[in-house]
Amino acid sequence: MKAIVLYYSQTGNTEIIAKKIAKDFSCELVKIEPDIVYGGFLSSCARVIGDRFRKDLPTYVTEIPDLSEIDTVFVGFPIWAADVPDFVQAFLKDCDLDGKRIIPFATSRMTGIEGAVETLTIICGGASVEHPFFYSPRKKDNYKAWRAEVSAAPAEEAAEEADPAEEGAEEAATEE
Ligand SMILES: Cc1cc2nc3c(=O)[nH]c(=O)nc-3n(C[C@H](O)[C@H](O)[C@H](O)COP(=O)(O)O)c2cc1C
Repeated sequence: MKAIVLYYSQTGNTEIIAKKIAKDFSCELVKIEPDIVYGGFLSSCARVIGDRFRKDLPTYVTEIPDLSEIDTVFVGFPIWAADVPDFVQAFLKDCDLDGKRIIPFATSRMTGIEGAVETLTIICGGASVEHPFFYSPRKKDNYKAWRAEVSAAPAEEAAEEADPAEEGAEEAATEE
């Protein structure tokens, strides 16, 4: 597998998982940055909803990486207003993801990843979106089992890996 991790994280929850994936799958980690940095929780929510209402969506400033040799793209983000953050969507639309395997991972306070997976399936047209990983205070997918599924590594080997929950993701997820 030749993989890369593309992710955004505002307060660090998704980043903990992104770094773990990059380490476990020995791949490059690229943070997607918005054109205008987001502020605190309430101002970010107001901006996301206002932008969508006005149909004046934000974009990104991160350079698109060369994905020509990549077959698996891990895409990580916090759930924002029940979906993938708009500038992350803009970034993905500009990536050539045709024929690649997209593996989404997301964190949220509560909302599940299902809606985001639907969005990714639409915007990453020629790619196959599979094996989503989700982490919230209410629902935590099992990282070890997920990693074994994704890598098709023997489950016993994957079970020896640490769980991100044990490394602070749970605390970070409730620290806003
Ligand atoms: C603008 C904004 C919108 C959000 N919308 C949702 C949401 O719809 N559902 C939810 O459960 N959490 C929502 N959250 C909470 C984040 O998804 C959650 O705190 C996430 O773990 C943050 O990840 P991060 O630390 O990687 O930025 C929202 C947070 C922000 C800032």
